[in-house]
Amino acid sequence: MCSLMTSSSKFIRTLNGEKDAIPPIWFMRQAGRYLPEYRELRAKAGSFLNLCYDPAMASEITLQPVRRFDLDAAILFADILLIPDAMGQALSFAEGEGPMLDPVITPANIDQFRNRDIHDRLGSVYETVKLTRAELDDDKALIGFAGAPWTIATYMLNGRSSRDPAALRALHYDDPEFLTALIDLLVEKTIDYLCRQIAAGADAVQLFDTWAGGMPGPVLDAVSVRPLTKIAAAVKAAHPETPVILFPKGVGEKAVEYAQLPECDGYGIDYSMDPAWARANLSGHTVVQGGFDPLSVAAGGEEMMKRAGAYLKLFHDVPYVFNLGHGFIPKTPPEHVAALVEFVRGGNW
Ligand code: CP3
Repeated sequence: MCSLMTSSSKFIRTLNGEKDAIPPIWFMRQAGRYLPEYRELRAKAGSFLNLCYDPAMASEITLQPVRRFDLDAAILFADILLIPDAMGQALSFAEGEGPMLDPVITPANIDQFRNRDIHDRLGSVYETVKLTRAELDDDKALIGFAGAPWTIATYMLNGRSSRDPAALRALHYDDPEFLTALIDLLVEKTIDYLCRQIAAGADAVQLFDTWAGGMPGPVLDAVSVRPLTKIAAAVKAAHPETPVILFPKGVGEKAVEYAQLPECDGYGIDYSMDPAWARANLSGHTVVQGGFDPLSVAAGGEEMMKRAGAYLKLFHDVPYVFNLGHGFIPKTPPEHVAALVEFVRGGNW
């Protein structure tokens, strides 16, 4: 946090602890399949990965929701699984299957992957950041991101989404030494990846730990809290003015440990967390972001406004970033998003 710097971006000022009457707004998965302009470009590109690796198209997609809804921040259009892809584990998306990585990683891959120059393949991502920053107005922030090592590791070890919570936990017990080596490798690569995004123009970075939930506390310390602390500390040592936001999904009261880290400038709460609990236990340590259920936006109507109003009222006297508790689902009507933004900006909660 650097209080002497005043940013022209409301989002960055808020993460630096300043309070505005109307909070800044952006949304997880704000670019994506619910937007017709996204679907059009996606069809032209042929595949999601072609989009991710094409700076002109990825930059255009990053800007689409900011133009449409006048949001306070853009988030780089990319994916958390580009790091394994760049290390040599080919990423693909089969219809209805979600992401797949091939081949499944083994201990023999660790040194081989460590020696890979990921920037060959990820250079286009830094180019997307550069192009996008040049297009954005000064009062709009550009958010870079990466997956947390644990969440990326679950895909690398399984080859796909590990939807069964027991199978997910088992990854830790099967071969803890291998898991630790993999997480250390991902910590190293992620620090480098995020620093390059910042050097290219990202104003803040967010770490997504989607699969942190449901792990026993001491295991979570090893696979999530410690690796995220290392990444955030190294990124902030190199770029002290760049806010770091953590989003470990589903970790319950463990959230306090992340929020108390001096490197944690923002903490994304997920939809399962009681916002009143977050206000009481997290806002004193960090800037809380999000929480709002994306399914409520898909449903829309007066109920959506009422529910959003409850979050806004709870956090009215502390810095807060309005956002979701996870990404939009594809069937979300864009008109509901427009109505929600208008409601938040209107201030009549
Ligand atoms: O708008 C944004 O939020 C920025 C771009 C972004 C995407 N993925 C684009 C995307 C970000 C930040 C992510 C993060 C991501 N990717 C996470 C962490 C956050 C979360 O949602 O939990 C995870 C776990 C992934 C891995 C991944 N990539 C999954 C599970 C999927 C969905 C598969 C499916 O078909 O539903 C993707 C694909 C993906 N990433 C899409 C988008 C817009 C959809 C791709 C398409 O157009 O088909």
